[in-house]
Amino acid sequence: QDTPEARTPTGIPAGTPEAGRQQGAHLTTSQGARLRDSDHSLKAGERGPSLLQDHHLREKITHFDHERIPERVVHARGAAAHGVFEGYGTAEPITMAGFLAKGKQTPVFTRFSTVLGSRGSADTVRDTRGFATKFYTDEGTFDLVGNNIPVFFIQDGIKFPDVVHAAKPHPDREIPQAQSAHDTFWDFVSLHTEAQHHTIWNMSDRGIPRSFRMMEGFGVHTFRMINADGDSTLVKFHWKPRLGVHSVTWEEAQLINGIDPDFHRRDLADAIEAGGYPQWELGIQTFPDTPEQTFQGIDLLDPTKIVPEELVPVQPIGLLTLNKNVSNYFAETEQVAFHPGHLPPGIDVTDDPLLQARLFSYIDTQITRLGGPNFNQIPINRAHAPVNDMLRDGFHQDAVHNGVAPYKPNSLDGGCPFFAGTADKPFVDAAVTIPDGSAKVRAQPASFDDHFSQPRLFWQSMSPVEQQHIIGAYTFELSKVYEQAIKERQLIALANIDATLCAEVAAGLGLGVPKATEQPVEMSPSPALSQVGREWPLD
Ligand code: HEM
Repeated sequence: QDTPEARTPTGIPAGTPEAGRQQGAHLTTSQGARLRDSDHSLKAGERGPSLLQDHHLREKITHFDHERIPERVVHARGAAAHGVFEGYGTAEPITMAGFLAKGKQTPVFTRFSTVLGSRGSADTVRDTRGFATKFYTDEGTFDLVGNNIPVFFIQDGIKFPDVVHAAKPHPDREIPQAQSAHDTFWDFVSLHTEAQHHTIWNMSDRGIPRSFRMMEGFGVHTFRMINADGDSTLVKFHWKPRLGVHSVTWEEAQLINGIDPDFHRRDLADAIEAGGYPQWELGIQTFPDTPEQTFQGIDLLDPTKIVPEELVPVQPIGLLTLNKNVSNYFAETEQVAFHPGHLPPGIDVTDDPLLQARLFSYIDTQITRLGGPNFNQIPINRAHAPVNDMLRDGFHQDAVHNGVAPYKPNSLDGGCPFFAGTADKPFVDAAVTIPDGSAKVRAQPASFDDHFSQPRLFWQSMSPVEQQHIIGAYTFELSKVYEQAIKERQLIALANIDATLCAEVAAGLGLGVPKATEQPVEMSPSPALSQVGREWPLD
C-alpha cells in the first residue's frame, strides 16, 4: 500500500526535522561524497582557467542556477504557519466529515497572502488577503481556500484572467504593485459593475488589515455539507479571529510599508514564537438545499453576494490554533498547493460558476509552478490519510509504487486496492438533479444582474469614521487614474451605491456629480440579455 511512510524512502516521517536533506557531519556532494573544499574551483594551475572536470563546481553552480520556481500567478506573497483544528461536534447533524466531530484534533497548515503583489512586495498594501487552510484529515485532505473579504470581484471564473490582468501592474511600466491605483483596475471595475461590492470592501479598512491574526476569513462560495443519510445542507464558511477584526489607517499603512515591508509576516511569526498563538473559530451559515438555492431573494450561487449575519447567524463548529512556525519557507510556504476541490466525505461544492472554474484552475497552474504532476508528494502537500491511487510516473516521481497493474479491475495484483463500500465512508457527491432537457447556455440568472444593493448595504453599515476612510480611499486611488472617462464612469457606479459617497469623492477629485443609472454600466450586453447559446456555432 502506498502510505506516506512507504513513500519516504528513508522511512523518516515527513514534516520532521530529521526528514531534512542534511545528514551526517561532513559536507558532501549530492551523491554523498565527502568534500575537502567548497571555496576553490579546480584550475589548470593557480592562475589558470577552471576545469570542466570539477564536478562539485558544476553541480553547485547548476543547482543554484535553477533554485527559483515561478511565483504564484496570484497570491504570490504569503506567510504561513502550522497548527491544529479542533471540532466542536456542532456540525455533526449535517455532515459526516470526521474532523468536525467533538474534540477531534486535526493538523493544519494555513497560508495568508496578498493577491496582487509579487513575492517581494510589501505587506500593508490595500488589497484582498488570502486565507487558505489545509486540514490534513484522516479521511483525506480538506482545503478551505478563502479570502478575508466575503465576496469576489466576478461572478463567473471565465473572467478571472481578465480581472487579474486589469489589477496587476501595467504591462508597459510594470507599475504599480498596490491594488487599484491605476487605470486598468478602475476601467475594469467600472465596466464590470458586479465588481463594485468587492471593491467597496477593498476601499474600506478591511483592505488594510492590522495583522493576519486580526482578520476574518470567508469561504466566499456556498458549499454543501452532507450527512450520513445523504441529506445536503448549503453552507457558507466563516473564520472569526479571537483577537477581533482590526485595521491600520491608510497613513499608518504607508509608513509601515516604508519602515517594515515584512510587517505582517514578522507579526505572525513573532506572535507564534512568543507563544501568543492566534486562534480563529470556524463557523457556518446554513441554508436549506432547495432547488432555487436562494435565501430571501439572495442568490446563494452568486459569489458577489453575502447573506447578512443578522439574518442567518454564524454558528461555531470548531477552533483553529496556529502554534508552529514553518522551518523552511520554500519547502512549506512556497511549495504548498491548495485546491478548492480537495474535499473530504461530508463536504461538496455547488454550481457557483466562479467555484466551478477554480476547480480546474489550481491543479493546472500548480503543474507549471511545481514542475509536473507529482506535487502531491512534496512533504507539505502529502495527505495524512493513507493514499492508494493509480497515478503513476511523471516528473519528480518520488514514490516506488508496488504492483504491476495500476488499473481496475485487474486480475494480476494481489495488492489491488478495493473500492469503498458505504460502511467505508467514501467520498459522496451531492445528489443534485439536473433537469432533463436543459440546454447548454451561457446565460446567467437575472439575480446576478443586481450589482449595487449589497455595496449600498455595506456602505450603510459603516460608522461615520469608517465612511470617511472609504471616501478617502476612493479619492486617493481614483486620483491616480489618468483617464478622465474612467474616473467619471466609476463615479456613476458610486452614484448607484450612494449619493453622498459619490458627491464626496467627486468633490475630492474636482469633478461633477453624475446621476445614478441603476443599470449595469457594461460595454457588452449582459449575458442574460444577449442571444446566448447562439453566439458561437460550437455552443
Ligand atoms: C491562489 C483564493 C478565485 C485561481 C489563491 C490563493 C487563495 C485564493 C487564498 C492562495 C493560495 C495559497 O496561499 O497558496 C481565492 C478565492 C477566490 C478565488 C477566495 C474566489 C472566491 C479564483 C478564481 C481562479 C483562481 C476564479 C481561476 C479561475 C487561482 C490561482 C492561484 C490562486 C491560479 C495560484 C495557485 C497556486 O499557484 O498555487 N486563490 N481565489 N482563484 N487562485 Fe484563487
